[in-house]
Amino acid sequence: MFEIKAKDMRGRVGVLKTNHGDIKTPNLMPVIHPRKQPINVKDYGADIVITNAYLIYKDEDLSKKALDVGLHELINFDGPIMTDSGSFQLSVYGDVEITNQEVIEFQEAIGTDIGTSLDIPTGPYVDREKVEEDLEITIERAKEAISFVKDNDYNMKINSVVQGSTYPDLREYCATELTKLDADLYPIGAVVPLMEMYHYRDLVDAVMHSVKCLPESKARHLMGAGHPMIFALCVAMGCDLFDSAAYILYAEGDRFLTTRGTLKLENMTEMPCSCEVCCKYTPDDLRAMDKEERTKLIAQHNLHVSFAELRLIRQAIAEGSLMELVEERCRAHPMLLDAVRHLGEYSEDLEQFDPRSKKSAFFYTGPESLKRAEVTRHLKQLENMDKKKNLVVLPAYRKPYSKYLVSSFREFYVYAKDESNGEDAPCVIDNDDTDFAVLDIPFCMIPLELDEVYPLSQSDAPRIHDKIADEFTRDFFIDYAENYDNVLIHPKVMDELELDYIERYEHPEDVRYKKDDIKKLKAIADYQFGKGAGEALFTGNIKIEKSKKTGKIRHVFDKNQNIVNMRASDSFLILSKLGAQRLATLDGMRNKVMIDNSVESFAREGKSVFAKFIKDCDLNIRSNDEVLIVNEQGELLAFGKALLSHKEMMDFKTGQAIKTRKGFKK
Ligand code: GUN
Ligand code: ZN
Repeated sequence: MFEIKAKDMRGRVGVLKTNHGDIKTPNLMPVIHPRKQPINVKDYGADIVITNAYLIYKDEDLSKKALDVGLHELINFDGPIMTDSGSFQLSVYGDVEITNQEVIEFQEAIGTDIGTSLDIPTGPYVDREKVEEDLEITIERAKEAISFVKDNDYNMKINSVVQGSTYPDLREYCATELTKLDADLYPIGAVVPLMEMYHYRDLVDAVMHSVKCLPESKARHLMGAGHPMIFALCVAMGCDLFDSAAYILYAEGDRFLTTRGTLKLENMTEMPCSCEVCCKYTPDDLRAMDKEERTKLIAQHNLHVSFAELRLIRQAIAEGSLMELVEERCRAHPMLLDAVRHLGEYSEDLEQFDPRSKKSAFFYTGPESLKRAEVTRHLKQLENMDKKKNLVVLPAYRKPYSKYLVSSFREFYVYAKDESNGEDAPCVIDNDDTDFAVLDIPFCMIPLELDEVYPLSQSDAPRIHDKIADEFTRDFFIDYAENYDNVLIHPKVMDELELDYIERYEHPEDVRYKKDDIKKLKAIADYQFGKGAGEALFTGNIKIEKSKKTGKIRHVFDKNQNIVNMRASDSFLILSKLGAQRLATLDGMRNKVMIDNSVESFAREGKSVFAKFIKDCDLNIRSNDEVLIVNEQGELLAFGKALLSHKEMMDFKTGQAIKTRKGFKK
């Protein structure tokens, strides 16, 4: 029912398939009142809507008409419709006059596309005992609903709502139990009060602990979220659908939604955007209108802004700039800034979903960026790199760093790793036994061999540093220095970081970073494929072909057999047949995806691999990685580019997982 087309962080551009057509996600479902529809939301961009089955059920006229002509005709919408079950009324009035079974049967009878069971939305900060009690009922009802839908071959798809209030472990417990039930979609419930109180930080916890335990292959809906200011943040956490009455409720209160917050008409001197309404009228015009007409126009603006934001988000995912958008949007309110800062605590989780390489550059927009998945990943991947005896730390000028290095150095500081280090004079640096790295924010240490690899080169940060970034870099450096016997630091770096040092030291000869293409290739291979990959790939009579225009490495051969090519945009290595065969000699599941033997011949012919045939895969696989495709015996069948990460490959049962480059015919 759900397929992923593009990814960034936990955000996905996807396609949701329903009986009334496919819709793109992330998307917003405007709430439609079953009796009154002041504006036609379809005209303003709605692809899917949500309405309330309980309100229809309770109203004799509406109920009769819905059963007669169907829900789509009742609310005059021919696209997909989701229905809610009355749970929200339950949370507001404490009671509803319908059972779980009745509401499930009714939703199917009126022809909804996606129905919802009667979950109990337990608000934030409620006593744990009460939350646990409610949760058991929610889970029981979800079970009942799903068995109903499955046993009776219902046409409608079914939602199972994650509850658990503000208890992270209960959110996880609920999500885990609901995942076992195999519902069609997973809404995340009872977050409206958190949003109303601006408790966005607790919203991050509620969402992250829910999505962590939900399947990757199902769409997730953040219930009652309708302010465009928070869409980008919530999409980055893995939410695919939003719903809201905000567009109309705010309009009724003369309030304009914008991505920077809400504007009150009474305070407006200018119209806030360039939608049809904002171009045609002035605030004075609107204030002079009768209420009904004004409400319609403001609602129209509110929908326009919401859909425009979702288009921008989908574009940002496609180009890989979602976090830049999130960091920008979260500056709209201090509590949102708290939320994005807090999201940094989930960096290791988010890293598992973030593509290895993106079309757009990484921009450092503030200390929050230090916790981004790309930084976490780079610092972890540095562990893959072989370390020499000595380290020379150089300042960052322009990128790529190695191109703009001052060519040679003689003056250094000897870094005081520990007390004993001071007693011996530093060795005379032997270039062959020395690693050269640039120190810079936010990636801390950049071995010069990697200086063209994504995102180390394809990134930018302000030259006026903030203290937090400098401290982060210094702390990382202090740990990293432990890998080396001797560390020499360039005076400019010393000034920037105010490190402890032993003495100023003049090296007897110039220390020079000598470019070595094979060393560079091996370093990139280890960084990309793990330790030992460089040695495995680059043996024999290595020949390197470079671009005449840029001087960059393009093709690498053993005699005349192509091993790898280097992609110009991100300097990652793209495997050729020989490269794939050599990489496959590394032990274990490294870089491998194991597929069902029944589709071996398709892979050997070079056909793409579908997720449902994947039996196992390396934990470290991320989308855009080069991967090896093997059969259940571990024989190499083909190689290609991953479209999904490890977790997604293991969970999805539809759609492509690997775009195969070439197969090995038998
Ligand atoms: N609408 C807003 N929040 C909720 C919720 O928690 N459950 C249901 N069913 N609908 C909602
Ligand atoms: Zn407008």
